[in-house]
Amino acid sequence: MSVTVRVPAKVNVQLAVGGARPDGFHDLANVFLAVGLYDEVTVSPADTLRVTCEGPDASQVPLDRTNLAARAVEKLAARYGRRADVHIHIAKDIPVAGGMAGGSADGAGALVACDALWGTGASRDELLEICAELGSDVPFSLVGGAALGTGRGERLRVLEVGGSFHWVFAVADGGLSTPAVYGEFDRLNEGVSVPEPVASGGVLAALASGDASALAEAVSNDLQAAALSLRPSLASALAVGVDGGALAGIVSGSGPTTAFLVADAEAGGKVADALVGAGVCRAARVAVGPVGGAVVV
Ligand code: C5P
Repeated sequence: MSVTVRVPAKVNVQLAVGGARPDGFHDLANVFLAVGLYDEVTVSPADTLRVTCEGPDASQVPLDRTNLAARAVEKLAARYGRRADVHIHIAKDIPVAGGMAGGSADGAGALVACDALWGTGASRDELLEICAELGSDVPFSLVGGAALGTGRGERLRVLEVGGSFHWVFAVADGGLSTPAVYGEFDRLNEGVSVPEPVASGGVLAALASGDASALAEAVSNDLQAAALSLRPSLASALAVGVDGGALAGIVSGSGPTTAFLVADAEAGGKVADALVGAGVCRAARVAVGPVGGAVVV
């Protein structure tokens, strides 16, 4: 008996970052959009907790207890007084350490899968609470669609979206560590009074109306300067994508994936070709959002 859950990647159409809090986290106004690149997490009963992974980036995925999928299963098991004896298999298609919430997706996926395998009867709110303990982006991986995340990103308000948005993602060589990018954000803002993060009216209106040109005008990422500072080569990817016809190009979350909003699938193909042709990325992926969150398949 096994259960498989499919979980999407995300792009941040707005990531407004406040100053560092006493706990080291940053308050955010984080507008998430789930996009159609997926990991599939399968759980089945086993003698002991074990994680395996397949996919082009599988060698970069930790298979020990630092994997969010393993931590999710341990937390659910502890809450329901069970042993976390399952084999977790991750079929990975979301770029690893790419700023697209791939690790968070696996956490949410393993949680939903084990919940179904064990028939715990946990409420959605309980699952979301466990997600929030696992990481700031994990609740959104469960919910999908589009949402505004506040606090450290874990408090979600679902957003209505009036259409579909086409994206091209330029997958960079190697990952970027999220804490390192936030650390660089703090370094770049030393001595500066960082304003409270607020959701952009322009972003919310563009999502609600499904207007890609308006969204392109409004997208922003306060971590972009920090990601570019740590990885200056990302500037070339951004330039190539925009020159190739993208409506906008931004770093996705903490990077190093760069995300390009395009008018339609045809424009997406051209931008992807331009990125690959210029050799500014390891791979270019096209995807549409919003899509639904973690779901048993
Ligand atoms: O919550 P998560 O485990 O994904 O966060 C990873 C790291 O990213 C944190 O340890 C912290 O350094 C940084 N972070 C932050 N503020 C947030 C979210 C994450 O500083 N709101």
